[in-house]
Amino acid sequence: GARLHYVFNKDARGLSLSCHFQSFLPSCSNRFLSSYSLSGDLKAVVRVTSGQVVVWSDRCLKKILDLSALNKHGRVYEDAQFGCLAWSTCESRLLYVAEGKRSIGESYASASSPSAGEPRDKSVYWEDWGEGLTSKSVPVLCVADVAKGTVTVLQGVPSHVSPGQGLWAHDGESVFFVGWWHEPFRLGLRFCSNRRSALFCLDLEGNCECLSGDTSSVSSPRLSPDGRYLVYLEGQVFGPHSQCLSMQQYDLETRKISVLVDVVNRPKKDEFAGLYEALPPRCWASDSQRVVFSSARRNWRQTVQSFSLHSAEKFGSWKLLTIQNDLMVVHCSHLNEAPRLVIQYCGHSYIALGIEVTPIQRAGLCSFPGGPHSQFFAEWNVTTAVLVKLGFAVLMVNYRGSTGFGQDSILSLAGNIGSQDVKDVQRAVLTALADQTAEKLLTLDPDKVVVMGGSHGGFLACHLIGQFPDFYKACAVRNPVINAATLLGTSDIVDWRYSSVGLQYSYDQLPTPEALTTMLQKSPITYAPQIKAPVLLMLGGKDRRVSPYQGLELYRSLKSRGSPVAFVCGGRHSLARVDTQADCFLNVVLWFQQHLYLH
Ligand SMILES: *[C@@H]1O[C@H](CO)[C@@H](O)[C@H](O)[C@H]1NC(C)=O
Repeated sequence: GARLHYVFNKDARGLSLSCHFQSFLPSCSNRFLSSYSLSGDLKAVVRVTSGQVVVWSDRCLKKILDLSALNKHGRVYEDAQFGCLAWSTCESRLLYVAEGKRSIGESYASASSPSAGEPRDKSVYWEDWGEGLTSKSVPVLCVADVAKGTVTVLQGVPSHVSPGQGLWAHDGESVFFVGWWHEPFRLGLRFCSNRRSALFCLDLEGNCECLSGDTSSVSSPRLSPDGRYLVYLEGQVFGPHSQCLSMQQYDLETRKISVLVDVVNRPKKDEFAGLYEALPPRCWASDSQRVVFSSARRNWRQTVQSFSLHSAEKFGSWKLLTIQNDLMVVHCSHLNEAPRLVIQYCGHSYIALGIEVTPIQRAGLCSFPGGPHSQFFAEWNVTTAVLVKLGFAVLMVNYRGSTGFGQDSILSLAGNIGSQDVKDVQRAVLTALADQTAEKLLTLDPDKVVVMGGSHGGFLACHLIGQFPDFYKACAVRNPVINAATLLGTSDIVDWRYSSVGLQYSYDQLPTPEALTTMLQKSPITYAPQIKAPVLLMLGGKDRRVSPYQGLELYRSLKSRGSPVAFVCGGRHSLARVDTQADCFLNVVLWFQQHLYLH
């Protein structure tokens, strides 16, 4: 459990750095949250599994709060969607989110004492927030008073929303939070910036007020150091589940909202291309006048600010992790350079903490479609690097519908899945092959092209081998979407099942024969009889977004036609455990090598 702990200082002579081991976290397998107070003097760690809050002061243990014994709520939320751990400015209180006590459990339990948050009657169904948030249903905002050793569950959150992403107002008398509508039922939230939500202010007496509009999707509230401005991200409800967002500013003094950064529909080359991801936990410069964040620009990720970053070109993709006292901590990497941390102070001096991969004679071309509504950055990716080391050229395609290219591009995919995206990827592959022939590189063998992808990328991979049966020599997919009509009943983001085929969604929607037909017609299962490429299916058991039974449908249709197909268990949807990932990777490489006769 030892970690390196770096301390940066800025003085007249520039930046200095000290480093020591930090070994007080007993076990990293214990899921935890941690947070430093503003002065940096106190560090709070929440051990989620054991339900403890531990406060350290200058590396000495100061206080332990046993949340299970206090029994005010269930498990603490450690996810990036709802979770938070925020110190009040007076450095005596902590704000966090936990599973609320369920009233049905309480009424049954009044005689004995149930373990916090667990319903007594296990047969009662509790809606949850879908893939990656399966044990999360009814979040509550909690305040731990470190000195007194007490915990209070805040009252006054409107009953139609679930709170998360909390932070303290400057005076410590109220908190801000994002509330997500959970009526009429909960839809999957992970990777979805299109869920109805709003920004609220709640005082400790229980008075609550909505600060933002209440018909859009709101996230990432961040307060300026002087306590006057709140910035947050805003997007549309429904439609693409990840989209170009605007940055809004709420002035707590004048109570006015203004747009700081607008949605970008069609960025020109070399222009700012819009905002697509959560703001870093700290993003304000100390003057409370500037906000720093990183954002996708075409295939790159860059740090955007009013002063320029030197040597950005050298590193490729930059992701701002945090900024404090005007010191920025940036994660940067290139396709052929492992990630390093760069510390930079307002546009001059920086310190970089830090393999270069040289391609060998190439054996084949491996094409990866990703997304939708996400993207491949030109950044370090260990899977890609190892494939290159093994002799594959790797093409990762940001087809239209990926983020980083403006909102119009994202919207263009709705209704066109299975055709526009498939054509984009195929065209990219043909272009890559043609380019290298034109440049007389001749290292790519057009008879050795394979394809791989997961989720919607798996959907595309299966479409490609179905629509271009002689072109691809092997295929490996992880929890692919195979039949969008049957996926409708099981996916946690049922709204996207409709939007993806160009239909409007509403909560009370019933399937119609026309809608189901459209979904089926756009699905790779219809091409199954044409498929020739051997298919490796990696199916994980607990995926709430794309059920593993999707892959089984393809398995049966290929098996019954004598088409080569193999099936291994591939762990969960979004990045599973390291050992499962390593297993999957080895299976894929062996599959490709075997079917390209590379042994
Ligand atoms: C890394 O690359 C592999 C393909 O080489 C891809 O499947 C995976 O999604 C990539 N990871 C990220 C974070 O882009």
